Amino acid sequence: MKIIKAKDYKDMSRKAANIISAQVIMKPNCVLGLATGSTPIGTYQQLVEWYNKGDLDFSEVTSVNLDEYKGLTRDNDQSYYYFMNENLFKHVNINKERTHLPDGTQPDAAKACADYNNVIASVGGIDLQLLGLGHNGHIGFNEPSDSFELETHCVDLTESTIKANQRFFASYDDVPKQAYTMGIKTIMLAKKVLVVVSGEDKADIVKKAFFGPVTPQVPASILQLHSDAIVVADEAALSKI
Ligand code: GLP
Repeated sequence: MKIIKAKDYKDMSRKAANIISAQVIMKPNCVLGLATGSTPIGTYQQLVEWYNKGDLDFSEVTSVNLDEYKGLTRDNDQSYYYFMNENLFKHVNINKERTHLPDGTQPDAAKACADYNNVIASVGGIDLQLLGLGHNGHIGFNEPSDSFELETHCVDLTESTIKANQRFFASYDDVPKQAYTMGIKTIMLAKKVLVVVSGEDKADIVKKAFFGPVTPQVPASILQLHSDAIVVADEAALSKI
């Protein structure tokens, strides 16, 4: 696992965008695994800036996102589909037909998960998976648990995750309590994994996840075993190391 120290959020975002750019330049038809949350927003902004300068071409890129809230429609401004569109897809020349997220509107969880596993298999696996880090060590929506979930599954979000994400919704009651998420095996099978982390509030979990024991109670800890995992974190997030 490679830990790259960035000065601040802006520097973290530029460094992460550089790594993603290199992937797209080296393999124009790559499969990018994408993430939501506030941390990668600056990375997406940087990619859009470089795209606008003519330095990047997404026309052959395929994307698969990590997760989606169960029950939210694509036009709900809190859905991850909406997020990806607003923060990246509508600003670059990615072919929308090649952008994939779990279907939050599918009420049948078994079907939603099986369909998404098929999508991931059909694109041939992930070249680079971008990840944020939840305060409890979750990646995607893989919450702390007694075992690592392998493939796409439906999750009951933990209280701490619901509270953390409440800031985006009108009230606690409006936050969906379930989500569909890619599993840990799928994430671990990505050829490269890139984790972005920023802020002092993540310093404890950075220490636990990347310097503590590997355990499903801290899902991100499994990334210590990945053969090409890069963490780009700012000084504040690394302050407890
Ligand atoms: C959400 C997402 C995760 C994300 C996490 C941290 O729960 N499902 O993919 O990494 O929040 O978000 P933030 O970057 O806003 O701290």
